[in-house]
Amino acid sequence: MFCVRGLRVWRVCSDPESSGRCPNIALAIETQNLNKTYGVDSDGTAVGLLDLSLSVEEGQIFGLVGPNGSGKTTTLKLLLGLIFPTSGSAKVLGYPMGSPDYKERIGFVPEGPYFYDHLNAVELLAFYGGLFGLSGKELGTRTQELLELVGMWTRRHIRVRNYSRGMLQRVGVAQALLNDPDLVFMDEPTAGLDPSAQMQIRDVIFQIRERGKTVFLCSHLLKEMEPLANNIAILNRGKLVITGPMETVLSGEQDFYRLTAEHVDQSLADKVGAMAETAENAAGVFRAKFGTQTAALEAAGVLDAGGALVTGLQPDRRSLEEVFIAAVKGEQ
Ligand SMILES: Nc1ncnc2c1ncn2[C@@H]1O[C@H](COP(=O)(O)OP(=O)(O)O)[C@@H](O)[C@H]1O
Ligand SMILES: [Mg+2]
Repeated sequence: MFCVRGLRVWRVCSDPESSGRCPNIALAIETQNLNKTYGVDSDGTAVGLLDLSLSVEEGQIFGLVGPNGSGKTTTLKLLLGLIFPTSGSAKVLGYPMGSPDYKERIGFVPEGPYFYDHLNAVELLAFYGGLFGLSGKELGTRTQELLELVGMWTRRHIRVRNYSRGMLQRVGVAQALLNDPDLVFMDEPTAGLDPSAQMQIRDVIFQIRERGKTVFLCSHLLKEMEPLANNIAILNRGKLVITGPMETVLSGEQDFYRLTAEHVDQSLADKVGAMAETAENAAGVFRAKFGTQTAALEAAGVLDAGGALVTGLQPDRRSLEEVFIAAVKGEQ
């Protein structure tokens, strides 16, 4: 389902019966017309977070994406109760934003976490565990479990001052999970990490979701968010541009199917091309685009019968970068 709020804000819901509203699912976060303005830009537009309304279902990885300065960290700080909104409201785990009632059920990995650098991973978790009232056997078990989860158990005796960025980030994740939170906030968890460290953090994020937790992830790395988040919201200059399930957002308003084949002679290419929306036969590869799956399958049958080798048939998907650029066209 697809509906338009204001000029550019789309809320996309995959349920065709939903009339534009997602069905009744338990919400971990819900914001309504949330504003935090810090001042005005040189061109007179407000700076900060502007009129954010979104909902995050429990048990999913929700990605808040957008370029630097688009309002992601501001959103996080509001939801954590670290700053106050200019106007609007939000609920976190069913409680009013900022109330102390949900604080012990959330975890937070800030951008570039900072820890006392004379501690090793075990001492660090003991320090933070103490703040949650953990001690003794319970603390020891939790520490081992979490350091194993983030791949730091074998390196538990290394001091923070000798950590790489990836190690710091992993211990940051372990620290955020100490209180066994239902909802974990992460701000740019993989920024500045090398590809293998990024992959490890991604694996940990998947594991957190497998444990039934909700992950609210902020990142300016659109490519990275694509395989990770179930649902996303895209911000640009403080405004919500698109929100919805990743699949729906990437598939766009119009579905297309792409068919590729090899060993297609020109008369066969002309015949199948006449069935397609667009087609080309160049450098030994035949590519065609169809409006429906049925038409694409029929064309694949014709290619097969004509002696061609069908190498691919898949729904057309845009990348998150393409979605973002199309959505903010003319604004930046
Ligand atoms: N404390 C602050 N005072 C003034 N402006 C701020 C403050 N915090 C953030 N901003 C501005 O608000 C906008 C959104 O910032 P931020 O939420 O940090 O974006 P993001 O996390 O997406 O990079 C930016 O233009 C930033 O410069
Ligand atoms: Mg930020």
